[in-house]
Amino acid sequence: MVVIVTGANGQLGQAIQSIADQYPSIDFVFCSSSELDITSSVSCEAAFTKYKPDFCINTAAYTAVDKAETDVEKARLVNVIGAKNLAESCKQNNTVLLHISTDFVFDGIVATSGSKGYRETDAPNPQGVYGQTKLEGEQAIQAILEKYFIIRTSWVYSQFGANFMKTMLRLAQEKDSISVVNDQIGTPTNAVDLAECLLKIINTQILTPNTQHLFGIYNFSNEGQCSWYEFAVEIFKQYQLSVNVNPIPSSAYPTPAKRPAYSVLDKSKIKTVFEITISNWQKHIKK
Ligand SMILES: NC(=O)c1ccc[n+]([C@@H]2O[C@H](COP(=O)([O-])OP(=O)(O)OC[C@H]3O[C@@H](n4cnc5c(N)ncnc54)[C@H](OP(=O)(O)O)[C@@H]3O)[C@@H](O)[C@H]2O)c1
Repeated sequence: MVVIVTGANGQLGQAIQSIADQYPSIDFVFCSSSELDITSSVSCEAAFTKYKPDFCINTAAYTAVDKAETDVEKARLVNVIGAKNLAESCKQNNTVLLHISTDFVFDGIVATSGSKGYRETDAPNPQGVYGQTKLEGEQAIQAILEKYFIIRTSWVYSQFGANFMKTMLRLAQEKDSISVVNDQIGTPTNAVDLAECLLKIINTQILTPNTQHLFGIYNFSNEGQCSWYEFAVEIFKQYQLSVNVNPIPSSAYPTPAKRPAYSVLDKSKIKTVFEITISNWQKHIKK
């Protein structure tokens, strides 16, 4: 069973690499952006012809949320055309695509589904270029493919790449006091937990015949919810760092891209369909 992973040097790509040896029945092909440029259909087709993957995990994306506001063309090229190219290669090669999307497809104004958060069926309404291009990428895949999983996630952190947790740990070395917004509510996602979830989906596909009806959109994050302020406080608590953290409103920390004020994702569907148990967001901070 061959699984090709795009964007392999990114945060999630490295998280998948870190657990790959726990899946000896899978031949992983990890491709960095220089080995497989998803914005090039020729590059995609060459990789698919060479490796003949049964599954493709697309972790490649334009993820610079604020920069995307002015770098619209590049964001669209990677997040929309890139997703489209991969979907076309998947279709031609009968490959199942697992594509990662984001809570930023939602506006965060009203979660129609109540206290558990946004459901997969709730109407997206992105607030910025990043969210808009990620949504268009989802739509491009759905227009081309039947055999896809789109997994929306949020607030991904790990020991790999650039992320909020690593920024907080760095700031703790540089400052005695920091300010963090407390009016954006979501759920942190440990990248290794997400990687394990993706491989569980693939294993289910391998082991269980006739799972065509399972394709579609799923949410995955850790359980629970918090503000960025609460996330920072918990990181410092678990790492036993004494830093004074001040809660501030988003208005005191303006950013080029508007973020959803509320983007908790309801995981009922993925937990039921794939029998996944998800840890609370505090549990794996030091994993
Ligand atoms: N991080 C989060 O908080 C978060 C939240 C929700 C959803 N997501 C989604 O989760 C997925 C993984 O995110 P991440 O945190 O792992 O992002 P990341 O660390 O920024 O990694 C993205 C990777 O994509 C690669 N890439 C960019 N353009 C490419 C291209 N044209 N062809 C091939 N690869 C290309 C980058 O390679 P180079 O560095 O070589 O350009 C990088 O390795 C993305 O789909 C993202 O939208 C992330």
